[in-house]
Amino acid sequence: MKSRIQTIRESERLSHTKIYTDEELYHTDSWLSKPIKTVREIMELFSGYEFFRALDLGCGVGRNSIYVAECFKGKECLVDCVDLLDIAIEKLNDNAKAHGVSERINGIAGTIEDFEIAKDEYDFIMAVSALEHVESEERFLCALGSIRDGVRENGVVCMVINSEVSECDSVTKEPLEAQFEVNLSADKVLAYVDEVFRGWKVIKRTVSRQEYDVPRETAVSRLSTKVVTCVAKRE
Ligand SMILES: C[S@@+](CC[C@H](N)C(=O)[O-])C[C@H]1O[C@@H](n2cnc3c(N)ncnc32)[C@H](O)[C@@H]1O
Repeated sequence: MKSRIQTIRESERLSHTKIYTDEELYHTDSWLSKPIKTVREIMELFSGYEFFRALDLGCGVGRNSIYVAECFKGKECLVDCVDLLDIAIEKLNDNAKAHGVSERINGIAGTIEDFEIAKDEYDFIMAVSALEHVESEERFLCALGSIRDGVRENGVVCMVINSEVSECDSVTKEPLEAQFEVNLSADKVLAYVDEVFRGWKVIKRTVSRQEYDVPRETAVSRLSTKVVTCVAKRE
């Protein structure tokens, strides 16, 4: 019998494989239409940098990492991009080529849990809708600590985390188990982030209620979530 984590990962694999196969990065109406606004705003903080190191945890097909790499055209930049799905990394590499940033994108197929973040390695670490997919609350806390240790002085972290997620069939409204490995309350996410990044300059700390549809194996699910966004700078 499959464990809860195996069931969720299989469901997420099917859902992401469908999106990554059907949708073209930056040429679609879905969430892949553009990099998130918060990442676009953060990049302005680094406009004077000649050498830039970034890490994108749960990178998908490069919605945010390709944008970051594009910001450093003509400069030295390397963005390490980690995703557990092989198809995400394949599409990421295709997208990097199409956008002329292949040499700045380093795709790594593997889990956030297994990726060892070198200390003081990165100017910028982002994890957009990814940390809630690590195996457990303990791993979540561990990941926050590794991210903190991996950011250099004057570096920035950007985390977007779904919390208090509920899921139902988009047509029948039948309640379903939310396919999120870690489904914490927004208050708990904020408390963990505040604790781990204590002493850092808070640039953004928001909670916004959102609803959106995701394709599942045989139907479409309606998700209701409180999205926690935290941006902080190590000074
Ligand atoms: C909702 S998508 C977001 C992708 C990307 N961050 C973006 O904003 O476009 C979540 C991604 O995280 C990946 N993922 C989920 N759990 C993961 C894990 N434990 N380790 C690495 N990647 C994971 C999924 O395969 C998927 O590509």
